[in-house]
Amino acid sequence: MNISADFLQRLTSALGPASVITDGPDLEPYSVDWRRLFPGTPACVVRPSSTAQVAHIVQVCREAGVPLVPQGGNTGLAGGAVPDPSGTQVVLSLNRMAAVRNVDAVGMTIEAEAGCILKVAQDAASAVGRLLPISLAAEGSATIGGVVAANAGGVNVLRYGMTRSLVLGLEVVLPDGTVANGLRRLRKDNAGYDWKQLFIGSEGTLGIVTAAILRLLPRPKHSVTALLSVADPAAALRLLALAQDELGDQISAFELISATSMQLVAKHAGLKAPIAQGDWFVLIEAASSLPGLREAAEAMLGAAFEQEIALDGVIAESGAQAAQLWALREHVTESEAREGKSVKHDVSVPLTEVPRFLDEAGEALAAGAPGTRVNAFGHLGDGNIHYNVLVDAGQDAGVVNRIVHDVVAAFGGSISAEHGIGQYRVGELARYRAQTELDLARKLKRALDPDGLLNPGKVLSP
Ligand code: FAD
Ligand code: MLT
Ligand code: ZN
Repeated sequence: MNISADFLQRLTSALGPASVITDGPDLEPYSVDWRRLFPGTPACVVRPSSTAQVAHIVQVCREAGVPLVPQGGNTGLAGGAVPDPSGTQVVLSLNRMAAVRNVDAVGMTIEAEAGCILKVAQDAASAVGRLLPISLAAEGSATIGGVVAANAGGVNVLRYGMTRSLVLGLEVVLPDGTVANGLRRLRKDNAGYDWKQLFIGSEGTLGIVTAAILRLLPRPKHSVTALLSVADPAAALRLLALAQDELGDQISAFELISATSMQLVAKHAGLKAPIAQGDWFVLIEAASSLPGLREAAEAMLGAAFEQEIALDGVIAESGAQAAQLWALREHVTESEAREGKSVKHDVSVPLTEVPRFLDEAGEALAAGAPGTRVNAFGHLGDGNIHYNVLVDAGQDAGVVNRIVHDVVAAFGGSISAEHGIGQYRVGELARYRAQTELDLARKLKRALDPDGLLNPGKVLSP
């Protein structure tokens, strides 16, 4: 702890001592990120239970010049939710503000507090026959506030878009401690600037999201899940075109899994693909409330074999089998973590360039970082590949980043498709984004947070 007794007293008298953690093992889960790459030392952790308390904390911190780090489920993969090691930054955890406030089945909206676990919100929507389509392997721990602040992607972006496309309203505590209440359930609202967009994907650097209203969709009555193996990523793209022909906009997920990913999942999670091993696998999900989905999926599979696009494939016969197929995909990240050190890249390139990107990045790594292994997988339907490089302890992560990101840049891609910049990619953003874009970002940051107290060192260098 590295803050004054008076400052602490002001926090505890407003929140109660149980809501301020100052030392001991209870600090640990708030101190280090999910990948354990960025161990930090919080001055303390505060756990408010209302928007008014969040606003009060922000004001107290502002007056004392103490930086604040907002934290949700702490599942972020870019180190954005943890403090630095200085012992001077306060972690503001939203985990006590976890209520689902309202689900409107007819208006198809859900209002939840920032600390509400994503899975809890999904289940609340599902209970009234609606779908909250944000879906990611960390959904049992990630929070609505974190998902909004990160503009999370996940496996359903192909059909439903990123989190941004589902946010109707936000309540945000600004860095000066005032509350901007835009909790409107409107589908159409052109009254002035759409300021909420600034906070979506801002990774806690511009404001603290305290509640959100998200758009829901009808929950499809039928779904099909299929796993196919293909020879290469070019074949996977041909399969995407075929699936779009046969299943149209009913495709909700189109995920690429490499043989390396499958091997890691077999080794560390004990899960095996129920089809012949190929070099690449594609997991497809389609969903609809209209009949005929399974027939369309079978026609797609038949055509994929006939046109020699797929080497092998299976369509799940039951919900349980579909869950088994999804488990293969969902265990990749955890299995990779168990394998050892990896250098993650969360990149996107124009969809049709994915095969060439994979080839060229592979060649560049073989030349510049021999001995490394690539664990590539991800949201192929969105042109988003998790191009993670398994390295030994001595390998310089910066060298690997440079090799991969230079290839991404050559294809006009992005160095972060969905995970964000956090502290992990601050240097990389500065290198690969144009100066005008960086200047614009700094102007926004300065306008909203002139003292630089909100999540300093994340997204932009201080
Ligand atoms: P945190 O990790 O706590 O925070 C993330 C960022 O948001 C930080 O910068 C933090 O300061 C800020 N923040 C958190 N809450 C607030 C708030 N209330 N107000 C303002 N700022 C806030 N991400 C994807 O996009 N797609 C995936 O497919 C995906 N899969 C994953 C799989 C695994 C196994 C894991 C571990 C992570 C995965 N992630 C994925 C990353 C992560 O789950 C998401 O980024 C998620 O949105 C983070 O939510 P969180 O509540 O854990 O946020
Ligand atoms: C996923 O899609 O599973 C995560 O976003 C990826 C990762 O671990 O890199
Ligand atoms: Zn992902």
